[in-house]
Amino acid sequence: AIRSVVRGVGSYLPARCLTNADLAQMVDTSDEWIVQRTGIRTRHIAAEGEVTSDLAIHAARAALADAGLTPDDIDLIVLATSTPDNTFPATAVSVQAGLGITHGAAFDLQAVCSGFVFALATADNFLKTGAYRRCLVIGAETFSRILDWSDRTTCVLFGDGAGALVLEAVRDEEEGRGVLTSHLRSDGRHKNKLYVDGGVSSTRSVGFLRMEGREVFRHAVGMITDVIVDAFEATGESADTIDWFVPHQANRRIIDASAVKLGIAPEKVVITVDQHGNTSAASIPLALAAAHADGRIKRGDLVLLEAMGGGFTWASALVRW
Ligand code: ACO
Repeated sequence: AIRSVVRGVGSYLPARCLTNADLAQMVDTSDEWIVQRTGIRTRHIAAEGEVTSDLAIHAARAALADAGLTPDDIDLIVLATSTPDNTFPATAVSVQAGLGITHGAAFDLQAVCSGFVFALATADNFLKTGAYRRCLVIGAETFSRILDWSDRTTCVLFGDGAGALVLEAVRDEEEGRGVLTSHLRSDGRHKNKLYVDGGVSSTRSVGFLRMEGREVFRHAVGMITDVIVDAFEATGESADTIDWFVPHQANRRIIDASAVKLGIAPEKVVITVDQHGNTSAASIPLALAAAHADGRIKRGDLVLLEAMGGGFTWASALVRW
C-alpha cells in the first residue's frame, strides 16, 4: 500500500505585527479582554499589495527547502484558503507559476478554518491512488482583508499567514510513517453562524466576516472531540499514545477545553494562537512548522491534527511524522 509521508514543512508570516495595544487604539477593547477571552496577544497583518499567493509561495519554498526538494519535484498543489487572490483563477495556480512549475495540477479547496485538514486528506487520497507523487499541501490566508475593522467582536480574533507541507507517496513502509487516517465532517445547518456577508454570486462584492461567537464556541468542543474520537477508533491510538496535539488555533479556551475533555496532557499541546491569532486554514501548518523548527516534533512522532470552522466544517487527522 502507498502511504503519504511528510518530507518537509515551512511557513511564512507577514512582517507587520498588530498587538492588542494597537487594537485598543482602533476599537473599544483592551489587552486584558482579548487575552482573557482568547489567549491572543499579537497577530501578523499582510502589507498593502501582499496577497495570499505571496504568503503561500514563501511558505512553499520553506517547506521545499526543509524537504531538500526543488519545485520540479512537485506534481500536485492543493491550497486551502477562504481569502483567494482573485475569484478565479485558483490561488494555487499563482503559487504554481511563482514556483516555476509547469507540470502536474494545482487547485484550491475551501473549508474555512478546517481547510488545511480537508486539503491534507484530499492530497493523501490522490497520492494513495498513485495519481501523483509529491504534493504541496498549503494553508494560506489574508483574513485581514475580510475583517470589519470597526467590529471589535471579530477584528481582534484573526491574523494573516501561510504554512505548507510536502507530502510524498511512499510504497515501502518507512517505520509506519505517513498520514494514518483523516476524518472530515460538515453540517450546513450552521452556515449562518460564521460567514462572510458578501460574495460573487450574492452581492458581487467581497463582504465582511460575521460571527455569532457564542454559538461557535458552544458547538466547537463537542465537534472537535467527536471527530478526534473517530480518528482514535480508526487507528487504535489514544490521548496517551499521541506525542503532539496540533489543533486549529482559534481560541485558547477552545483548545484547552478540548484537550481536557480528551485527556490530552497540556505539555503535548502546541499553541501558537497567542502569537498568530486565528489564521484560519493557515493555523495548523504554521503551528506544525513552529514545533518542527524548535525540535519538538521529531521523526516518528505521532501528531494529532484537528480543526473546526465555518459551515460548520470540522476534521481530524493522525500523522506519523
Ligand atoms: N473587547 C472588549 N469587549 C468585547 C470585545 C472586545 N474585543 N468583543 C466583544 N466584547 C463585549 C461584548 O460586546 C459583550 O458586551 P455586553 O455584555 O455589554 O454585550 C461582552 O464583551 C461579552 O461578549 P461575548 O460575545 O458574550 O463574549 P464571549 O465570552 O463569548 O467571548 C469570543 C467572545 C471570544 C468571540 C468567544 O465567543 C469565542 O471565542 N467564540 C468562538 C469564536 C471562535 O473561535 N471563532 C473561530 C472558530 S471557527 C474558525 O476558526 C473560523
